[in-house]
Amino acid sequence: MKTLFDKTHIGAMKLKNRFIRAAVAEKTQDGHINDNTLKLYEKLAQGGAGALITGFTLVDGEEKNFPLMACYDDSFLEGHRKLTNIVHENGTNIILQLVYVGSYIMGDASGVTILAPSAVKNLNTGIVPREIKITEIKNIQEKFAAAALRAKNSGYDGIEIHAAHGFFLSQFMTPYYNRRTDIYGGSAENRSRMSLETYDAIRQYAGNDFPILIKINVNDGFDGEVLFEDVLYLCKKLTERGINAIEISGAWQKLPKESTSYFKKEAETIAAQNNIKVIMTGGNLHFNEMTDILNTTKVEYFGMARALMKNADLVNMFEKQYGMD
Ligand SMILES: Cc1cc2nc3c(=O)[nH]c(=O)nc-3n(C[C@H](O)[C@H](O)[C@H](O)COP(=O)(O)O)c2cc1C
Repeated sequence: MKTLFDKTHIGAMKLKNRFIRAAVAEKTQDGHINDNTLKLYEKLAQGGAGALITGFTLVDGEEKNFPLMACYDDSFLEGHRKLTNIVHENGTNIILQLVYVGSYIMGDASGVTILAPSAVKNLNTGIVPREIKITEIKNIQEKFAAAALRAKNSGYDGIEIHAAHGFFLSQFMTPYYNRRTDIYGGSAENRSRMSLETYDAIRQYAGNDFPILIKINVNDGFDGEVLFEDVLYLCKKLTERGINAIEISGAWQKLPKESTSYFKKEAETIAAQNNIKVIMTGGNLHFNEMTDILNTTKVEYFGMARALMKNADLVNMFEKQYGMD
């Protein structure tokens, strides 16, 4: 029988258990990591999870009006090094989540050129973006790759590409947002191209031994949402290319707070069809339910965001109550 405290690995990253802190955005004024962020991650690291995924971090300075952590130039390295040190000193792994937000920019968007797959109104912000040109697409992929290399040089144990929750990369998968008729729109192959090429660019910069994860949406929760058959195509191709893990997410904000482990069906299907480490995130709370999923499906890891916001010590508590040794 598998247990949630099995020692495993995702690529070169060794994990002491199967609990992963899912990304939670940290606000910073100028993109730099501050003392509050360091204190928060120290506490999270002491809480016992096998790995922590940071809040989304900007890869492009054009988006700096969105007050998030950033990694778009070398001035951010010192802060990131402090963050990885504090987490490692407290015995766990840390993965930097990278994002290009596009039309889902929450902040002052005046004077910023907002780019998206198509010039379609963003359902969250109301912004009507400009359709991105192919030359600009390559530029964004390079920015992801450069940020990933900075992450590697700052001591992160891996990076995660944020291709979920309606941000720029996930919009390519979503018919409502992507109306393109070129090689980036239409078929599953074309919709997947943006995430696949971004992965390829990062892999080229960061090397074969650096763990690369991706977070994807299995649904969007509105008319014109991503098709699950397209998601399956994307997962197949990511696996073939050698990505190290896929984190499953979706329209979590639209689900009742009391429902638990709610992307099980989709995560189970993706894990069954691909030889890939699957992290299932969304409503994970109950130890016995996660143990059951671990032993009845090929899902191997459990992401938790809000549960650890409420109680950073939850994994230690699980270990005390249910740990074998
Ligand atoms: C305050 C807050 C901030 C979040 N920030 C991010 C983020 O930066 N990147 C991301 O991929 N997901 C983010 N999420 C979503 C979580 O990672 C997770 O997918 C979602 O909360 C469902 O998991 P849970 O039920 O364990 O909370 C955030 C969620 C919350 C509540």
